[in-house]
Amino acid sequence: MDKLEKVAREAALRAGELQKSRLGKIKSLDYKSAFNIVTDVDKASEALIIETLTQEFPDACFLAEESGESGSKSGRRWIIDPLDGTTNFAHSYPFFCVSIACEEDGQVVLGVVYNAVASEMFVAAKGQGATLNGEKINVSMRTSLETSLLATGFPPDTLKSVHHNMDSFRAITNMCHGVRRDGSAALDLCFVASGRLDGFWERKLSAWDVAAGALIVEEAGGKVSNLEDGPLDMMSGHILATNGKIHAEVVKALAASRTETVAS
Ligand code: IPD
Ligand code: CA
Ligand code: CA
Repeated sequence: MDKLEKVAREAALRAGELQKSRLGKIKSLDYKSAFNIVTDVDKASEALIIETLTQEFPDACFLAEESGESGSKSGRRWIIDPLDGTTNFAHSYPFFCVSIACEEDGQVVLGVVYNAVASEMFVAAKGQGATLNGEKINVSMRTSLETSLLATGFPPDTLKSVHHNMDSFRAITNMCHGVRRDGSAALDLCFVASGRLDGFWERKLSAWDVAAGALIVEEAGGKVSNLEDGPLDMMSGHILATNGKIHAEVVKALAASRTETVAS
C-alpha cells in the first residue's frame, strides 16, 4: 500500500469513528437551504480529514464540501465529502460515510469510502482493482434490467427542478426488481461496485459525492458515464453507474422517462 492510500485510509477511519461516536449526539444543525442541512459533525469530520492529510502532505490542495477550495495549487487535489448522507446521520438512520478521492493532473487516482457503522472500507487505486476491507470486489453479473436492483437519489430541491428525477424513478421502478433511495450517493456507488446493486443514477450531484465512488465502480469492473452514456463530468453531477451489462438498457430507460416529462 503506498503512502497516499495509507494516509487517505487513516483520514477516513478517523472521521468515520468520530461520526460513529456522535451518532444521535449532534450539537448543532444548520440549514444551507430549505431541506439541505449541515451538522457540527460534518464540519468536525472535514477538519479532521484535512488536518490528517495536511500533516503528511503539507502542499495538499483541497476541494471539500464544507470549506470549498483550499491549500496550495499543486498537481494533486483531494476531493472530500466528509459525511455523505447528512440527512440520514441527523436522523440517526445508519447509512452514511466518509468519501475521499485523490486527483492527480485532473484524473482521480485513488478513492476511499468508509462506512463506520458497518466497519466497511471501500478502496480503489487506478489500475489496481477495488477492495472492501482488503478483499477484492466485483460488480454483479446480472445481464437484464428486469432482474436488477438499482438505487437513485434526489437533490434537496427535488420538485423545483424540471429534471427532478421522479419521472425516471417511477418508470424504472416498473421495469426492475426495485429502485432504492438510501440517501448516500457514495455508498450507493460502492454497493454497485460490490454487486449489492446492479446500477445507480442521480442528477445534480457534486464532485465530492462521486469522485471516489466512481473510481471504485470502474475498478470493480463496472461502467460509469453521464446519463446519456457520455463521459462523466463530475462538475455537472449527472451520473449513471452500473455493472456494465445493463448500462445500455438503463440509458434507454432514462431517456424514455425524460421524454415523458418534457412531453407532459
Ligand atoms: C447527499 C447524498 C444523497 C444525495 C444528495 C446529496 P450529503 O449528500 O449523497 O444521497 O441524494 O443529492 O446531496 O448532503 O448528505 O453530503
Ligand atoms: Ca454528499
Ligand atoms: Ca456531505
